[in-house]
Amino acid sequence: MIGVPYNTIMVITFTNGKGGTGKTTLSVLLALALKEAGRAVAIHDTDLLQKTATRWSQEVGGIELAEPGKAPITIVDTPPRLDSAQTLTLLRKSDVIILVTSPSPADLFTSQDTAALIRREGLSDRAYILYNRIEVGTVLARDLEAMAAKLGLPALASRIHHRQAYQHAVLVGWKALGSKAREETLRVALEITAIEQPLQRLRSALQPDNRI
Ligand SMILES: Nc1ncnc2c1ncn2[C@@H]1O[C@H](COP(=O)(O)OP(=O)(O)O)[C@@H](O)[C@H]1O
Ligand SMILES: [Mg+2]
Repeated sequence: MIGVPYNTIMVITFTNGKGGTGKTTLSVLLALALKEAGRAVAIHDTDLLQKTATRWSQEVGGIELAEPGKAPITIVDTPPRLDSAQTLTLLRKSDVIILVTSPSPADLFTSQDTAALIRREGLSDRAYILYNRIEVGTVLARDLEAMAAKLGLPALASRIHHRQAYQHAVLVGWKALGSKAREETLRVALEITAIEQPLQRLRSALQPDNRI
């Protein structure tokens, strides 16, 4: 079994006010990894301008599109803007919020705005930074701890490297990935689904013998 217990409903939302940080790519990759691990997972595509996740699901197949709550695990892909009421509602309803960012200083600025919004909404107890497009040995890759401190949110221990295979995966699915790419994607999926959700924590505090 990987991560969250099978009887739990989990909504995982990928966000960043900036476009191009990898929200859609990682939504799709995470769904593929969870499916590979035998989990029932759906994608909820709320980026209605681009609809990349929708098109991917329809053209590549294998992952259902559904509203949160229909599948045990729902991955929500969001548009690159934070000023919509819909995005705020989605963030509030999420069990886990993943702020996707590259280690580039340009992404740090918009990620700071997104992190500030998450903190302002009182959602930092469920929000984590996921570093994407890491290039091994670069100066930027060494500064990730400092960047997380600036954003004021914890970073996931697992990270996603820059790999062309991830671009192909959005075209052809899991088979595009080599063993290293599969391994790191599964590691991220496992870390995210293992996060203890605030609601779960609350329920187990109230009923110590009846954990969900
Ligand atoms: N880890 C990665 N390695 C290589 N290319 C990536 C990676 N993550 C994202 N990309 C590429 O970056 C571009 C933007 O990614 P996308 O997921 O569409 O961003 P967003 O949904 O945040 O706008 C796409 O062309 C995608 O293939
Ligand atoms: Mg997108």
